[in-house]
Amino acid sequence: MTKTWIRGAVILTMNADNEVIRGDVLIEGNKIVKVGGDLGPVAGGADRIIEAGGKVLLPGFVQTHIHLCQTLFRGRADDLELIDWLRQRIWPLEAAHDEDSVHYSALLGIGELLRSGTTTILDMETVNHADAAFRAIESSGIRALSGKVMMDHGTEVPPALQENTERSLAESVGLLEKWHGAAGGRIHYAFCPRFVVSCTEELLVGVRDLSEKYGVKVHTHASENREEIAIVEAERGMRNVAYLDHIGLARPNLILAHSIWLDENEKRIIRERGVKVTHCPGSNLKLASGVADVPDLMGMGIPVGLGADGAPCNNNLDMFQEMRLAAFAQKVRHGPTVMDARTVLRMATMGGAEVLGLERDIGSVEAGKLADLQLLDLDDFHVYPSYDADLFSRVVYAATRGDVDTVLVDGKVVVEGRRVLTVDKDVVLRESDRALKALLKRL
Ligand code: GUN
Ligand code: FE
Repeated sequence: MTKTWIRGAVILTMNADNEVIRGDVLIEGNKIVKVGGDLGPVAGGADRIIEAGGKVLLPGFVQTHIHLCQTLFRGRADDLELIDWLRQRIWPLEAAHDEDSVHYSALLGIGELLRSGTTTILDMETVNHADAAFRAIESSGIRALSGKVMMDHGTEVPPALQENTERSLAESVGLLEKWHGAAGGRIHYAFCPRFVVSCTEELLVGVRDLSEKYGVKVHTHASENREEIAIVEAERGMRNVAYLDHIGLARPNLILAHSIWLDENEKRIIRERGVKVTHCPGSNLKLASGVADVPDLMGMGIPVGLGADGAPCNNNLDMFQEMRLAAFAQKVRHGPTVMDARTVLRMATMGGAEVLGLERDIGSVEAGKLADLQLLDLDDFHVYPSYDADLFSRVVYAATRGDVDTVLVDGKVVVEGRRVLTVDKDVVLRESDRALKALLKRL
């Protein structure tokens, strides 16, 4: 088993007490075995020593809502609201995807994510070619829950995205059987019905039963936009989350992206049924969707994670920006003391792990957890002074993704000296341009 010894870091453990300690971390294989102090006496024979003197070690970020398949569409759907954004731009673009374009879209997104300290994602693919995204996830070393998006209903949907209910379910199960548990357990499958607007009741009920049968998560968009919830109310005669509960989909394995437009009854449903929520402040502000009442949801004990959503509604996949926006958007609404730096950093790490049901495996720097870590080099103007500084404040309010120096996922170094080792930047930048050009010809 490979032994990795990280020496002399300042460690933001994100354990239950948010302890900050100085010292070393010892990793054996993919697991953290010891944290803190001088581990020289037990680290003998380490295969790899990472000199972290003065650097800040923290858990890799966990982003609980991403669309890797949309990375190629960065900058191609600006300044629109959700339904127009989908119908006029995103759906036609997704419909034009082939294996090659999905693959490079995923690699481009993963390169950006790893480079900026994100080690785990919950990812929603498009209707077709999801296999190509899973191959990119596998080769890049990132930890992911992912699934093909499911759409068997709705207006103004391009033919290539219109699915037959049974085939959508069967294709999802086929991908699940191939990828769930792959790469030594680093890859998980999740059923991804797009949102109620795109799904028949038959499809959603099928997802409910199959997700129980296979013991996997269900990920969908819910109550992001007022037009969306008006469509659902007109078609199903109920508010969005009330409808999900009505058909039995509101369960502990359900992870909702956005959850902005909820009434009190829907918040109660989410809490009582053990549903999880992902907050996407960058996307929500750019699409003018609104601001989720995150302090209220968290105050009710609902697990809330953080995610950048897709590149065309953000337009970055940068957790440092999401943390900043998550804090600032709530301060305007609730006052300056809410969403302090500790709360936001917990949301970006352990909070995400809890949303994904991976809280025993990732989200903190503790013995027994998987070694998903990032080292920040805060030796720069914009993060000084360091004297007597609150490290949470430095990381959340001042640090940027450029400060990420080293990243490990599953005990493996994937970023070193600010360079991604597992995704070839030169190749992916060139090939993503080529793949996009070909995709636009098919549009
Ligand atoms: N709702 C349905 N599909 C999507 C999507 O691709 N992105 C966002 N942000 N919301 C959606
Ligand atoms: Fe989304």
